[in-house]
Amino acid sequence: GSIRQNNIINGNSPLKLFTHAKTTITDIFKNITSYVNDSNIYLSDVIKSDRNLISNEKYKEIQHLKEKVSRILSIISRDHMKVVFFGRTSNGKSTVMNAMLRERILPVGMGHTTNCFLQIEGTDKIEASVLIPGCDEPKNINNLSTIGNALSREKVDSDSLVKILWPKEKCHLIRDDVVLVDSPGIDVSANLDQWIEKYCLDADVFILVVSAEATITIAEKTFLHNVATRVSNPNIFILMNRWDATDDEPEMVDLVKKQHLDRGLEFLCDELNLYQRKEAAEHRMFFISAREALSNRNIDLSSSSKSGFTKAHKERLADFNKFEHEFEKCISKTAVQTKFEQHANRGKEILSLISETITNTINKSQTIKEESSEKLIQMEERNTFVENELISITDVAKEKIRYVAEDVYKRVSQTLND
Ligand code: GTP
Ligand code: MG
Repeated sequence: GSIRQNNIINGNSPLKLFTHAKTTITDIFKNITSYVNDSNIYLSDVIKSDRNLISNEKYKEIQHLKEKVSRILSIISRDHMKVVFFGRTSNGKSTVMNAMLRERILPVGMGHTTNCFLQIEGTDKIEASVLIPGCDEPKNINNLSTIGNALSREKVDSDSLVKILWPKEKCHLIRDDVVLVDSPGIDVSANLDQWIEKYCLDADVFILVVSAEATITIAEKTFLHNVATRVSNPNIFILMNRWDATDDEPEMVDLVKKQHLDRGLEFLCDELNLYQRKEAAEHRMFFISAREALSNRNIDLSSSSKSGFTKAHKERLADFNKFEHEFEKCISKTAVQTKFEQHANRGKEILSLISETITNTINKSQTIKEESSEKLIQMEERNTFVENELISITDVAKEKIRYVAEDVYKRVSQTLND
């Protein structure tokens, strides 16, 4: 409990790894933009000087970098962390999400409730809205029950995606660029492969919500097997939900827990070969009650007697908090690696292309200068002109560009090592 709460107070949730990296990489690419602009000014002088220091193709290639860099900047601004929730109908997927969002945003209920994909993402607006496929404009939602109503009125295909644009200021997960996707029960959808294709390939984390009263089903396992063939080393969490049901059978708790752990670990470690057993047991499987977590968010578990919760109840809340912390660590680390490493490599490529080109023109100009000096005696006047021209073009630009390039290299590697 205290980890979670301190994180909120200190504003240093593990998610900040991602948001800080995003800020850093944005700054880096802004620097690259100015590097590209400076280089373009320098090279346009070079090409005007008409001394064949650079080919026309190279010149055009460098000119085009400007667009390329601005495209990368706009991709970075849209980069986010994505988590998909799945599992059999009524296991409590939507309830888990609401508990994490700290508000009853998604409709939950008995029977089959969620009938299409629901993506929750941030908006800077103060009011929430829903974007339904086929409609151009998001619809405002004044209160949460209208989400359910809006969804049940519209005929949406079970494979389609409804977006809920949720005000960033209301929720720290959303504010820190997490996008959450809820899915219809895995047992009621016909086309799981299409699901993966459409909604899962860019997910950073997969959360399987299992009902602790039952066990992991074949359908859920098959789904994850398919995910593992398409996504390399997927991050999977297993939530044994409805663990409050064990309150009725306290004498069975340890036995049941051991059985669930054994099966879950066998699946993650031996079948999917994703983790070591100890690692998975500590960081990937949790015994929770989403319903309790939702109604008891932000309760201080250390001030025990006041709350009057049983020991088991407190353990479930603590396990939910632990899950959230592990989830935040995992998703931010993965997203930084998968998204920003790519951008950083692009940035490095761009920098080397430019510095190579500039070094070439400088070397060539040096050769011309030397050749010219040999002819100095015959061609004194001409030579003075060449020399002045080359000095003015190279020196200033060269210094400035070297400086920016070094700074950018340093910061890119720092960000990736953090
Ligand atoms: P679909 O959208 O139909 O696929 O179901 P879902 O997986 O989203 O389940 P949902 O969150 O709608 O929960 C189904 C029912 O289980 C609701 O009535 C919840 O209140 C209840 N429920 C969810 N989590 C728990 C839990 O931890 N303990 C108990 N006792 N009930 C829960
Ligand atoms: Mg649901």
